Amino acid sequence: MVFIFNINERALNKNAHFTFTLLSLSQTIKNIFIILITRIDPVLQTPMYIFLNNFSLLEICYVTVTIPRMLMNLLTQKGNISLVACAAQMCFVLMFGGSECLFLTAMAYDLYVAICNPLPYPLVMNHKVYVQLAIAAWVVAVPAIIGQTCQICSLLFCGSYIIYHLFCDFPPILKLACGDTFLNEITVYVVTMVFIMVPYLLTIVSYGKIIANILKISSASGKAKAFYTCSSHLIVVVLFYGTAIITHLQPKTNQSEGNGKVISLFYM
Ligand SMILES: *[C@@H]1O[C@H](CO)[C@@H](O)[C@H](O)[C@H]1NC(C)=O
Repeated sequence: MVFIFNINERALNKNAHFTFTLLSLSQTIKNIFIILITRIDPVLQTPMYIFLNNFSLLEICYVTVTIPRMLMNLLTQKGNISLVACAAQMCFVLMFGGSECLFLTAMAYDLYVAICNPLPYPLVMNHKVYVQLAIAAWVVAVPAIIGQTCQICSLLFCGSYIIYHLFCDFPPILKLACGDTFLNEITVYVVTMVFIMVPYLLTIVSYGKIIANILKISSASGKAKAFYTCSSHLIVVVLFYGTAIITHLQPKTNQSEGNGKVISLFYM
């Protein structure tokens, strides 16, 4: 069975593909730099930078499973993808994306401990703890995502095989299934809730506490420095979770064709 990405219908698609590719290439270069710099500089061997390192690696993985295929589709003007390839892409995209969520949570927690409990920080965030956090962030969502992918791929597809998205993901594929997919939608919803909303809430709580703590700092320069550190994190968190929530947690009937692409661009 073969799905087809709609690549040449509207100008938006072409522009979206090119913008996506360019952004991803620059992202990848940036990520390689981050990994190299944090590896080389001994000052940057703190949990925050180790998490950032892993996050960069995940972004490289994410780009690797989405961009080459997209670029090939665009260059050959064919958007065919087999069910197996689509399933593999879906699985990797969600595994890497899910791990990114969890690493953002780990970073928020690290910042929370550093700002709110500075004295016991080395005790709380010791080597064993952050290695365990990193391993958990990589593997914890994997079984659920593999299970979910298998379940979606065992659905019946008939009628339209056209994917209105830049890559295979649960919502655009689920949309193509025929028959009653209510149960699948519910399980996808639950899985997404657990792996997006829970980290999201934990992240928000951490930042809430961090901000409350910053407001208590009496020196103006200390306050500014803490806000500066925190605001860049917060922007990433808002954009990242915002797009993930819009893509995965809106009901199937509300998703207009092509919207997913614009949202994916924002995500990048
Ligand atoms: C990711 O995290 C692990 C465990 O903390 C660490 O050993 C590794 O250097 C990190 N970075 C990458 C790129 O894997």
